[in-house]
Amino acid sequence: MDITFEKVGYTYQKGTPFESRALYDIDLMIKEGSYTALVGHTGSGKSTLLQHLNALSKPTEGTVKIGDRVITSQTDNKNLKNIRKKVGIVFQFPEAQLFEETIARDIAFGPKNFGASEEEGKEIAKRMLPLVGLDESFMERSPFDLSGGQMRRVAIAGVLAMDPEVLVLDEPTAGLDPQGRKEMMEMFFGLHQQQNMTIVLVTHQMDDVANYADHMIILEKGTVVKQGEPREIFQDAEWLESKQLGVPAAVAFAGRLEKRLNRSFAKLPLTTAELAEQIAAWLPNLPKQTAQEKGGEDR
Ligand SMILES: Nc1ncnc2c1ncn2[C@@H]1O[C@H](COP(=O)(O)OP(=O)(O)O)[C@@H](O)[C@H]1O
Ligand SMILES: [Mg+2]
Repeated sequence: MDITFEKVGYTYQKGTPFESRALYDIDLMIKEGSYTALVGHTGSGKSTLLQHLNALSKPTEGTVKIGDRVITSQTDNKNLKNIRKKVGIVFQFPEAQLFEETIARDIAFGPKNFGASEEEGKEIAKRMLPLVGLDESFMERSPFDLSGGQMRRVAIAGVLAMDPEVLVLDEPTAGLDPQGRKEMMEMFFGLHQQQNMTIVLVTHQMDDVANYADHMIILEKGTVVKQGEPREIFQDAEWLESKQLGVPAAVAFAGRLEKRLNRSFAKLPLTTAELAEQIAAWLPNLPKQTAQEKGGEDR
């Protein structure tokens, strides 16, 4: 299922003295099976845009197509349930929305709303826990006895329990420690690779964009100022710096090294693994890497 925006605009409290325009003139496409990173400064409209991906907000101008459903300002609010099921959104700090007495019940809340029985709900919760790195022993515990990172995992399990085709993540690693961040990013990438889940990730971490995303959309003051493949966008490090958006660590390092040595890399390295490979290619007579040394990406 693709999601397409055509000339989308959104104004909060339209038609009142308090109206304020948050999005305008947005054309974009989230392709089925892609991993899209959405970046931009605070207030640029990222969270507002996300709410259009499952018709939680309807555009005040233009059209959003979610699969074969067409959403405009005229669309009525009936029959949107199915879209909400297909496109799961993990909002910022989702742990704040936990409320059930047990973790199993919290995870099963969505499926039960869609008609799953008590037993089916339990089964689903049991299947979701390992996906988010927790085990069955958590089922009957209270979500409020967990660490912040664990609570967030439970909240994410609740979104995954709906078996979405598209998973939308609004700064999912904010406030986590480095290990927790890495585990969570790996978990999302696993879902993307193993289940071909379409991912839309809002992030300020350019290293995450370089490591995981195949498409990148940059928002500024409510509109798209650039979109494309991360590798192409990161080529123009100067433009990104001028927008105070930064570049992945490997790109910054490569740029400095190119200046210092007065030579250019054949291909822009996006990750430290690519950077190491390309520097090694400059050094003559280096013994070949063993498979073990090679490892993978920065991940
Ligand atoms: N509920 C709201 N009512 C009115 N204005 C809002 C509301 N939510 C966000 N805004 C405004 O919309 C703009 C975009 O905000 P937001 O989508 O939250 O950006 P981001 O997620 O990139 O930080 C900002 O100017 C913000 O103040
Ligand atoms: Mg936001």
